[in-house]
Amino acid sequence: MNAATVALVPAAGRGERLGGRGPKALVPVHGVPLVVHAVRGLLSAGCVRRVVVAAPLSHVDIMRSVLADAGAEALVVAGGGDRSESVRRALDAALAESADMSPEISVVLVHDAARAFTPPELVRAVTDAVAAGAPAVVPVLPVADTVKRVDANELVTETVSRADLRAVQTPQGFAPDVLRRAYEAGGDEHTDDAGLVERIGVPVSTVPGHPAAMKITTPFDLAVAEAVLAP
Ligand code: C5P
Repeated sequence: MNAATVALVPAAGRGERLGGRGPKALVPVHGVPLVVHAVRGLLSAGCVRRVVVAAPLSHVDIMRSVLADAGAEALVVAGGGDRSESVRRALDAALAESADMSPEISVVLVHDAARAFTPPELVRAVTDAVAAGAPAVVPVLPVADTVKRVDANELVTETVSRADLRAVQTPQGFAPDVLRRAYEAGGDEHTDDAGLVERIGVPVSTVPGHPAAMKITTPFDLAVAEAVLAP
């Protein structure tokens, strides 16, 4: 595999659903901040040349020293007011830094710091799928729960068939030009990068996701990570 891969890690969220104890990416699991677990996981996949982390503006220096002290090598840039702005800034920094490097970047991964325990095999599977020619790739899991639509009063209006629904994880992988064009085109609210790519009419493929790539959002998720996920 000859693909030059960079990984962007949006880590500039405030972590309010985790209790607002500061940026979520700095919350420790087994004494190690989530962002360190996330960067180590990406680097241990063996296919990532560079990791760019978007940190909260107020915590750029802290995140830089936390990562450096842990030996988790990454370029840290200031994130933005929402996730897309954080990804956009990390992408700009990655492309600027790589402008004179050889080989050129052929795969860009976007990976939430909150999915800190994603197995390296999943990072490789997404990278390989993009390197093999897919313009955009997302890891997915089948939806286990029954899904219902509700109205403004939380009354059920419909049971949605889950057969063709998938829960989407990260890392999401892209050909660099596709991600750049998707961000240039922009758009309204979206919760993942592939959503922007769909809007510019580029097909998004899937690879099987992994339960360990769960997003750590709530105190319950954190307890699960402490109990079963941390290495
Ligand atoms: O809030 P949520 O869990 O959906 O955030 C997903 C990821 O996006 C997290 O890793 C978070 O740190 C990141 N994020 C960001 N910049 C923001 C908001 C969220 O990098 N302004």
